[in-house]
Amino acid sequence: MIKPHGSDTLNPRFVYDTEKHHQLVREAESLPSLLLNSAAAANAVMLGAGYFNPLEGYMNLADALSVAKDMRTDNGLFWPVPILNLTRESGIETGQRIALRDPNVEGEPVLAIMDVEAVEAVTDDQLQSMARDIFGTLDPEHPGVATFTGLGNTLLSGPIEVLNFSYFQDDFPDTFRTAVEIRNEIQERGWEKVVAFQTRNPMHRAHEELCRMALERLDADGVVVHMLLGKLKEGDIPAPVRDACIRKMVEVYFPKNTVMVTGYGFDMLYAGPREAVLHAVFRQNMGATHLIVGRDHAGVGDYYGPFDAQAIFDERVPADALEIDIFRADHTAYSKKLNKVVMMKEAPDHDKDDFVLLSGTKVRQMLSEGIAPPPEFSRPEVAQILMDYYQSQNK
Ligand code: ADX
Repeated sequence: MIKPHGSDTLNPRFVYDTEKHHQLVREAESLPSLLLNSAAAANAVMLGAGYFNPLEGYMNLADALSVAKDMRTDNGLFWPVPILNLTRESGIETGQRIALRDPNVEGEPVLAIMDVEAVEAVTDDQLQSMARDIFGTLDPEHPGVATFTGLGNTLLSGPIEVLNFSYFQDDFPDTFRTAVEIRNEIQERGWEKVVAFQTRNPMHRAHEELCRMALERLDADGVVVHMLLGKLKEGDIPAPVRDACIRKMVEVYFPKNTVMVTGYGFDMLYAGPREAVLHAVFRQNMGATHLIVGRDHAGVGDYYGPFDAQAIFDERVPADALEIDIFRADHTAYSKKLNKVVMMKEAPDHDKDDFVLLSGTKVRQMLSEGIAPPPEFSRPEVAQILMDYYQSQNK
């Protein structure tokens, strides 16, 4: 099976030993505590679940700056996006052991315990320089930039021990999976060549067909649909609705035992190319050998070129940095001439009008007006779930 990133075995930061877990929960009651922001809480969940292997906790300033600029930590580990616990002035000091509280669960329970190795001030210039490196822009309208630059100027770094998976296990018991669980299931199924599909959408026909094409062209054993369950920008479709759409589509349109429907607890960064590389790292950690990267992967608005998230793997990712491979997909759409979904560059005799092309904005507009997206764009079963959701919102 493909090795995790940066180590021979996966070392999740969740405390699996029951006795130690009890002991830490008790200890947390008497520790000074810090209420995390959602980004830092999502990082803790990912560290706990093994997705951010081999990291043991939050990065310090030297690592953060180096990762943002060169995609390497100070000691040379390949890593595409800083994993940070940024906060405002907190009173926490170097050397303290603290309880990290979860902002996304009622009552703000303890999510993890942290050994604070450093408390460092980050200047606005350093924050902006990191934001520019990660997002390629400093436009405050970019949802990722706005979040990142508003997290605070105090950086707490050090290893963490994770005690739960926030709201993800309770809210998505059938879908939330750790990297450990996915690795185990891949092994149980005996899959060797495994394609991961990142998504933050209900799967429309282009998404479905990308999975099918990757399966066939790579002669893979299966696809792991791995949906984002964390926070999105306003207007994106909520995770339970996407989950229902994807499950229905897989049930009706894929042969049994070729697709695993799973999800992970992380907030969307909208960092386009850099996020695509982070996606590859954590799909390798969960045991996938390939990741589908299509058009405008993890993008937002017009901030990135449609295939920048593929180009970064040629331009900025050294050949020996990752073991996972990328399945590159061209813009994919339904051809009215061929009556099927195709990659557009594979239909050179077509012009734009030969395809059914609908933007996300257009589809949302149709749905809110009670109009179902056409069957060339969405499977009718998926369209129905989306229509029901939008109608319930309009009431
Ligand atoms: S993402 O933010 O998670 O990347 P989305 O769920 O829409 O957004 O896309 C999931 C994956 O499918 C990404 O790799 C994206 O590039 C790819 N993709 C989505 N739609 C298309 C399309 N029409 N043509 C090619 N690739 C696509």
